[in-house]
Amino acid sequence: MKILVIGGGGREHALVWKLRQSPRAQKIWCAPGNGGIAADAECVPVAAADVGALVSFAEKVQPDLTVVGPELPLVNGIGDAFRERRWAIVGPAEHAAQLEGSKIFSKEFLQRHGIPTAKPYGSFDSAEGAYSALPNVTLPVVLKADGLCGGKGVLVAQDFNEAHDFLNRVMEKNELGTAGNRILFEEALEGEELSFIIVTDGKTYAPLVPTRDHKRVYDGNQGPNTGGMGAYSTDDLLPEPLRNAIISTIVEPTLAGLAADGIPYQGFLYIGLMLTPSGPQVLEFNCRLGDPETQAIVARMDFDLAEVLQDVASGSLKPSKLHWKPGASVCVVLASGGYPRKFESGKRIEGLPAAEQITGVKVLHAGTKRVGDELLTGGGRVLGVTATGPTLGAALGSAYAAAEKIHFERLHYRKDIGRHSNTLRASGH
Ligand code: AMP
Ligand code: GLY
Repeated sequence: MKILVIGGGGREHALVWKLRQSPRAQKIWCAPGNGGIAADAECVPVAAADVGALVSFAEKVQPDLTVVGPELPLVNGIGDAFRERRWAIVGPAEHAAQLEGSKIFSKEFLQRHGIPTAKPYGSFDSAEGAYSALPNVTLPVVLKADGLCGGKGVLVAQDFNEAHDFLNRVMEKNELGTAGNRILFEEALEGEELSFIIVTDGKTYAPLVPTRDHKRVYDGNQGPNTGGMGAYSTDDLLPEPLRNAIISTIVEPTLAGLAADGIPYQGFLYIGLMLTPSGPQVLEFNCRLGDPETQAIVARMDFDLAEVLQDVASGSLKPSKLHWKPGASVCVVLASGGYPRKFESGKRIEGLPAAEQITGVKVLHAGTKRVGDELLTGGGRVLGVTATGPTLGAALGSAYAAAEKIHFERLHYRKDIGRHSNTLRASGH
């Protein structure tokens, strides 16, 4: 098989690393890839969001399978463009990707199909309308820019000043561009979050192992939201009754709702959940795999990913093929100083060979670039130190031992990934 992977972050390095282990994989390209992916695939300088350029590239090299990492190409219609040409691709069509591309579309979908989610207070397409609705909501209130904002579009506001300031920046100063033209207000939910990701060929689906992300930049869930500072996976995250509740109240109604609305869905569907005392509720849908969740998920895969994704693309997914390693996995993100705000790039990265000598460790690259013999930082999230182990404690021990061996100027990472794993009290059963 010749495989094209689209994207250039830690998630895509995890996919490429696993695909390359398949005896079926003859050739892998990654567009645009990164400094670490370059060791496992041929990186091609085509932007992940540029559907036209990706079609031209695929026309030339004729991949047997294309796997899409990020949301932007999906929301820009790459699924439709490839399927129209009868090219095998894993990823939903443009219409279906609206589940992620528009928070309002997704909220209306959830409500129409009676799927548990935070109660909306309303959606607004003018700043005046939004300001005048604020006094009528209960605090804290969640404000969501409708469109894609790379993780910057949601505020959980504790007071009206904070909410007012967000509306001013987003709706009047257009800091998020057109993504902030409409704003959704919804009730704030409390509990632990869980990333529940499924893969579907449009008829059949298979859940991946459960993961938990850590969105805030500092230990103890302090500081601003990021794309994700670390993730872990253990089966303990998902006791049987909770799993059954998620399947029966969320996953199956979602797939049935898509079918009822005439929206075929093929690819990964990421369901971001809040485990509240009254049961799991949907915070968001993403039309793709999570980052850094994928790094923790791939580390537990005990099956041929190329084979399973080929089945997904051809409508013949067999869920029984997805075997998982028992135990646990974890991914600790090493970030540039300043991230998620302003940060500098071009810092020399050292210590990777020593880190990878630790049993069960794989260092996956996100924002890295190779310049001559040197590996330099080239993004906010730089590396994902990924480890497996028989227990979560063992996986964490290996990941942190490896992280300590890696150096670059102003490197920072959270020291408490996976520490709250026993807080499942609020899981709704
Ligand atoms: P979203 O992009 O919708 O997942 O929002 C990003 C993050 O904001 C989520 O992972 C949660 O941490 C938080 N969030 C979103 N919606 C809510 C809500 N209704 N209640 C509490 N927190 C929320
Ligand atoms: N880690 C959260 C996301 O990928 O959206």
